[in-house]
Amino acid sequence: MKRANHAATPAPKVGFTDPLADVLHPGQSIELLKELHILTRDGKLNQDSRRKLKQVTHLCHFIEPLLDEVLARQDTLSLADHGAGKSYLGFILYDLFLKDRPGSHIYGIETRDELVEKSRALAARLSFPRMSFLSTTVAESTQSEQLPPCIDIVTALHACNTATDDAIQFALAKQARHIVLVPCCQAEVASVLRKHKNESFGKTPLSEIWRHPIHTREFGSQLTNVLRCLQLEAHGYQVTVTELVGWEHSMKNELIVASQTGTPRKNANERLRQILQELNLQELEGRFLAPVPRLV
Ligand SMILES: C[S@@+](CC[C@H](N)C(=O)[O-])C[C@H]1O[C@@H](n2cnc3c(N)ncnc32)[C@H](O)[C@@H]1O
Repeated sequence: MKRANHAATPAPKVGFTDPLADVLHPGQSIELLKELHILTRDGKLNQDSRRKLKQVTHLCHFIEPLLDEVLARQDTLSLADHGAGKSYLGFILYDLFLKDRPGSHIYGIETRDELVEKSRALAARLSFPRMSFLSTTVAESTQSEQLPPCIDIVTALHACNTATDDAIQFALAKQARHIVLVPCCQAEVASVLRKHKNESFGKTPLSEIWRHPIHTREFGSQLTNVLRCLQLEAHGYQVTVTELVGWEHSMKNELIVASQTGTPRKNANERLRQILQELNLQELEGRFLAPVPRLV
């Protein structure tokens, strides 16, 4: 079969024999995917890129209705993507859903200067004027004057370790309507479980759940997300937890989508406190029960 030249044209409607069919969105810019080095110069996709593109495309499907919901209420939309890396997510969201919506703006927040510089250059090359990139930590970005006081949607795709927790604090401070998280491994809870293992053995048979080191890591990771969900519910978010893509594509696959309802779950804080106490994790109260940071 003769393959079309994808260079500067939107993706054609692809047939089921096309190897890109299951990962491309109709109308998606092939040029952008090449610029992001997801596709090779001759339009091919290697296994790693296929996996990444599949994750990001799938995540975009979850985010699209949230963009629509915000833009149905107001003319403007701001989205902050934390731990943006090469900003695959931001660029693809902009390309698919926001390039023709003039009131929208995407902010990528990333600590690695070279990635921020590259993203700025790429946005300029593609003429994506409503994308900005900040070279700062998630935590510091909360007070950044380069960001508006309110942000409608906050995303964090595999933001390392506690950067996801900082993204939650950012979202609360910025009164985000929607928060979309695909957490990376978080080592903090596991390390505190480990530190208090002996005390826990004497206290509760449940400590068998995290007795073996691999279980400490896995349980710590799951518990972290449970605590994050309770934290969000305590702040008036309705939370949905699901799988992003099949486990064969990524081990870090849990998707947490939280939408502000204005009605906090009544017992969420109490539950949080009880769990921390039961598992000897009281020193993490500051992480999950902290008040919303004030904007200065
Ligand atoms: C695993 S990469 C994920 C990148 C991108 N979200 C993706 O899924 O392709 C995590 C990124 O978060 C950045 N990062 C880690 N901690 C951060 C922090 N505290 N503030 C901002 N960026 C952070 C890292 O530099 C890295 O680029």
